[in-house]
Amino acid sequence: MSTFNAPKGIPEYYPPDSAGFVAVRETLAEAVRRAGYGYIELPLFEDTALFARGVGESTDVVSKEMYTFADQGGRSITLRPEGTAGVIRSVIEHGLDRGQLPLKLYYSGAFFRYERPQAGRYRQLQQLGVEAIGVDDPALDAEVIAIADEGYRRLGITGHRIELTSLGDSSCRPEYRSRLQEFLRGLPLDEETRQRAELNPLRVLDDKRPEVREMVADAPLMADHLSAAAKDHYEQVKAHLNDLGVPFTENPWLVRGLDYYTKTTFEFVHDGLGAQSGIGGGGRYDGLMAELGGAELSGVGFGLGLDRTLLACQVEGVTPGDPARCDVYCVPLGETAKRRLVETAGQLRRSGVRVEVAYGGKGLKGAMKAADRSGARVALVLGDRDLASGTAQLKELAGGQQRTVGLDSVVDEARAELGR
Ligand code: HAM
Repeated sequence: MSTFNAPKGIPEYYPPDSAGFVAVRETLAEAVRRAGYGYIELPLFEDTALFARGVGESTDVVSKEMYTFADQGGRSITLRPEGTAGVIRSVIEHGLDRGQLPLKLYYSGAFFRYERPQAGRYRQLQQLGVEAIGVDDPALDAEVIAIADEGYRRLGITGHRIELTSLGDSSCRPEYRSRLQEFLRGLPLDEETRQRAELNPLRVLDDKRPEVREMVADAPLMADHLSAAAKDHYEQVKAHLNDLGVPFTENPWLVRGLDYYTKTTFEFVHDGLGAQSGIGGGGRYDGLMAELGGAELSGVGFGLGLDRTLLACQVEGVTPGDPARCDVYCVPLGETAKRRLVETAGQLRRSGVRVEVAYGGKGLKGAMKAADRSGARVALVLGDRDLASGTAQLKELAGGQQRTVGLDSVVDEARAELGR
């Protein structure tokens, strides 16, 4: 008989650890909702051309990492490698930009990149992202960065840092790009890198090989060649971040793997994660909407990697969320007791308490072990003698204190024990 394994490079989350994953997603979502972002649910696959045009043909993401296939109707379909292009496609298609601006949207879910799997690098990855569309205001860039920082802090993470730079705008980037290309043409680069320098010269600055790093150490940097407008925008983003009390370091070498960025770009880096240290990243993309056939509207946003954020929590010894499955664990001893406690469990749940019941006729010892493992604070035990006297036993699991309560008032008593 054959057995099956999940495809390579896909993290799966199951109890009890999945509680941490859900808490990461929910805590970050709460931080963005607090800044007025509304949820958008998007398709997991789109026309291949959307990503080729939106993310850029010369990026690794598009040229090497996409899951692309022909569907039964012969259309070229791609599993979404990132969220921004799909959001902008949806905004244009449904005219969402006709209302009040900025349009603030957030999303979360799976993205797909055919990368070489390693710790923290997956082929199915999860992100929570935001996009704020239609207002070119440096204060909005700062807000986007600050809400991600706030989300991480709410989780209890403190070991992350923010790297920030400006990639310039359409008035200064083309000139800088030629200047950088000129510089790179003068270096003894290998053939592949030389080709990359022609296609996407900024990526060469991001090369990890020490010999290439040494060669590009004196390369011209975008941050030194910003137009007056781009420089002013960047200075204002930094001033707002300072006002917001969000610490950052400037990294003029920061290169993002997607082509649509302009002006502000940033990455959240966690040094406890080894090579895959980027727990989130984003920036401004002022030309993307027009490029995809929409209005000339600007945008800024981020994508936070939920898988890597959970790893960062684990590295820092932070346990996000409540690992307990329930508050009250019901232990019936015998069939009559079971009928009564199943009913009580329903009543407790209706009143908002999380409840489990020991099914399957477990004995007292086994059931109490199960109660401990469930993380419940209280066990509610009902045996024959209790039934006869119209009572039940309420046992506090951590301390072991036990008290007898009236069966008629058991819901109120259990709630009181939980401080509700
Ligand atoms: P990105 O930097 O490609 O940006 O991805 C954002 C985050 O997703 C990364 O910082 C990382 O935490 C996580 N991530 C990416 N690839 C993987 C992987 N293979 N395994 C695990 N985690 C991964 C974007 O996707 C942009 N759409 C973000 C954005 C939104 N920019 C503007 N708006």
